[in-house]
Amino acid sequence: MISPVLFLFSCFLCHVAIAGRTCPRPADLPFATVTPLQAFYEPGEQIVYSCQPGYASRGGMRRFTCPLSGIWPVNTLKCIPRVCPFAGILPNGSVRYTTFEYPNTISFTCNSGFYLNGTKFAKCTEEGKWSPDLPVCAPVTCPSPPIPKFAVLSISKSSAGNSSFSGDNAHYGNTAVFKCLPHYAMFGNDTITCTEHGNWTKLPECREVKCPFPSRPNNGFVNYPAKEALYYKDKATYGCHEKYVLDGPQEVECSKFGNWSAEPSCKASCSVSVKKATVIFEGERVKIQEKFKNGMLHGQKVSFFCKNKEKKCSYTEDAQCIDGTLEIPKCFKEHSSLAFWKTDASDVKPC
Ligand SMILES: *[C@@H]1O[C@H](CO)[C@@H](O)[C@H](O)[C@H]1NC(C)=O
Ligand SMILES: *[C@@H]1O[C@H](CO)[C@@H](O)[C@H](O)[C@H]1NC(C)=O
Ligand SMILES: *[C@@H]1O[C@H](CO)[C@@H](O)[C@H](O)[C@H]1NC(C)=O
Ligand SMILES: *[C@@H]1O[C@H](CO)[C@@H](O)[C@H](O)[C@H]1NC(C)=O
Ligand SMILES: *[C@@H]1O[C@H](CO)[C@@H](O)[C@H](O)[C@H]1NC(C)=O
Ligand SMILES: *[C@@H]1O[C@H](CO)[C@@H](O)[C@H](O)[C@H]1NC(C)=O
Repeated sequence: MISPVLFLFSCFLCHVAIAGRTCPRPADLPFATVTPLQAFYEPGEQIVYSCQPGYASRGGMRRFTCPLSGIWPVNTLKCIPRVCPFAGILPNGSVRYTTFEYPNTISFTCNSGFYLNGTKFAKCTEEGKWSPDLPVCAPVTCPSPPIPKFAVLSISKSSAGNSSFSGDNAHYGNTAVFKCLPHYAMFGNDTITCTEHGNWTKLPECREVKCPFPSRPNNGFVNYPAKEALYYKDKATYGCHEKYVLDGPQEVECSKFGNWSAEPSCKASCSVSVKKATVIFEGERVKIQEKFKNGMLHGQKVSFFCKNKEKKCSYTEDAQCIDGTLEIPKCFKEHSSLAFWKTDASDVKPC
């Protein structure tokens, strides 16, 4: 038995099917789904547009019924991406982004001296929230600086100014300067800096440095502190006996390499074998027999005049007293004092 109601209803459907046209598959709408999705719909059948996760519907109907005309009504519905909260500013850092809409990902970097507390990337989720949470740029800190053995902290300074960081934490760019204890020499840079990695640059080393006792120079003497040993920065002074000249500095210092900054010696002065000559000494013409009555000191230099016989002119050649030896230039001719008619080379016009 067919119920009269059902019969009537199916008759109605037959009528509509005959009288109306079918609707086509509905137009695609970006980021929306249609249920149910079919190739065609009988008039009276209903469809529902719903926005995909991450998109919100705006400006239109979501539910449509296939009309007898078989033409779907104009659909003004739009599915627009959800927008996450503005995240374009990261204090002490920067954000790379195109938009803050689902499903975009943005990325973060911090300025030097700051580190990312959080993740480098965040995604705008279907719910319109950032995931994971937005990071912050936190200032880099270094632990209180380690003190090298046998050293003391002489200055600690923040890069910003004079304020010293007090014990606990130092910031990026802060510096600390060390001094070695007496007798200790520093190897490495005396200054360490808090780096962007939150560690300090390489620590210097302080090593005890001894120098041997300096030996007495021949024809001279050396003075140094009367101690059981001589250390880094200790000093010794040298002197020479009469007629001897110090070759090197008067004062030497024990260097960080365990040797002396110099090893001065005493050099003998020269007796002048020439009896009479005009020479140039320190830019002036002098009589050698008068100027160097007591000999020439080690290192002193004079220029002798020589003659060029062909051209009848004069030129000079140097002679230097080196540890007791003064070599007279070969071209120099000493005249007997009786040969008064001869012109001295120093009186001849220069070549
Ligand atoms: C870090 O950011 C804060 C707030 O924007 C600002 O006042 C400060 O100057 C910044 N520090 C540096 C070193 O840029
Ligand atoms: C880093 O982030 C965590 C969690 O957000 C917070 O508890 C902590 O205080 C932050 N540290 C700094 C130095 O900002
Ligand atoms: C830094 O210098 C300012 C002005 O010269 C001074 O007032 C301040 O006390 C100094 N701070 C420290 C920690 O020395
Ligand atoms: C020591 O380090 C500081 C900064 O850390 C630098 O400016 C300086 O040139 C360095 N000195 C030497 C001798 O390397
Ligand atoms: C400091 O840390 C960085 C990064 O971890 C590392 O490359 C560097 O060698 C460290 N520097 C020192 C002096 O330990
Ligand atoms: C001291 O020793 C260092 C390292 O061995 C060397 O470079 C330097 O020349 C020496 N100095 C002297 C004055 O001998």
